[in-house]
Amino acid sequence: MESLAGRAYLVTGGGTGIGAATALHLARLGASVTVIGRREKPLETVAAEVERQGGGALAHPADVRDPEAVNAAVEAALDRFGRIDGLVNNAAGNFVTPAERLSPNGWRAVVDIVLNGTWNCTSAVARHLIDAGRPGSVVSVIATYAWTGHPGTVHSAAAKAGVVAMTRTLAVEWARYGIRLNCIAPGPTETEGAGNALWATPEDEERVLASVPLNRFATAPEIGDLAGLLLSDRAGYVTGTVLTVDGGQSLGAQIYGPPVNATTVT
Ligand code: HXC
Repeated sequence: MESLAGRAYLVTGGGTGIGAATALHLARLGASVTVIGRREKPLETVAAEVERQGGGALAHPADVRDPEAVNAAVEAALDRFGRIDGLVNNAAGNFVTPAERLSPNGWRAVVDIVLNGTWNCTSAVARHLIDAGRPGSVVSVIATYAWTGHPGTVHSAAAKAGVVAMTRTLAVEWARYGIRLNCIAPGPTETEGAGNALWATPEDEERVLASVPLNRFATAPEIGDLAGLLLSDRAGYVTGTVLTVDGGQSLGAQIYGPPVNATTVT
């Protein structure tokens, strides 16, 4: 298994869901983690769990939309751990709404968290790495609708597509500094945040599940596991990519012929 022993990472949206699972996984691989998010309590819970497992953790409340708050988080992580080796941009905001009913403020809130927040964190960490002359790695959590599009998510899809373009651009621009940038595109993942925002009723949940060829939701730890892999030296030649982890969902549901599913082929 890849080791991140002695390294230090920031994880945004690190108090819950995929962010929390990622922080715990990085700590298991030997890294120190600074978890960033708006609510202090879940951050403290994750930090305490990391420390219980013998890892170094810092809970730092900050809104990724605020560049000054992000810079302060980077400074706090450096004060605490003496180094930063990279970042997981996991913070997101989302709700499903018909585009014609989306208010200017609703558009702004989601684009600000997802696109501007990712830039605020990525640029703050990269500036540190470049000044310190250290290599590093950034992983951003996106969604497959960044390239397929998806009705009801115009704000999130547009912002996530922007994160992909940012990642590809910076992967080339900052390769000379040894900074790698990649994205992970999870499919539907069992977390409270995603469930509340994207499949609030049992009927919605059933419909989402039926859209996944592997016929299950992803778990947060399996996404965190792959984030750890992309951050590690085992992925040292991987940059500017999107790793899709969606159980085949984005490849599309069956349209033609009689139904073929797991039941009929086994
Ligand atoms: C319509 C809504 C809405 C909803 C908020 N708004 N929720 N409009 N339907 N369900 C509108 C508000 O009315 C307001 O516009 C504007 O959005 C900002 O809302 P606030 O609550 O004031 O903003 P804020 O507190 O900053 O909250 C941001 C948020 C919130 C995005 C709206 O939901 C949030 O922070 N969520 C974080 C957690 C989250 O969403 N996680 C899920 C990520 S899952 P007006 O005009 O009224 O002022 C994910 C994975 C996708 O992204 C991929 C799956 C495969």
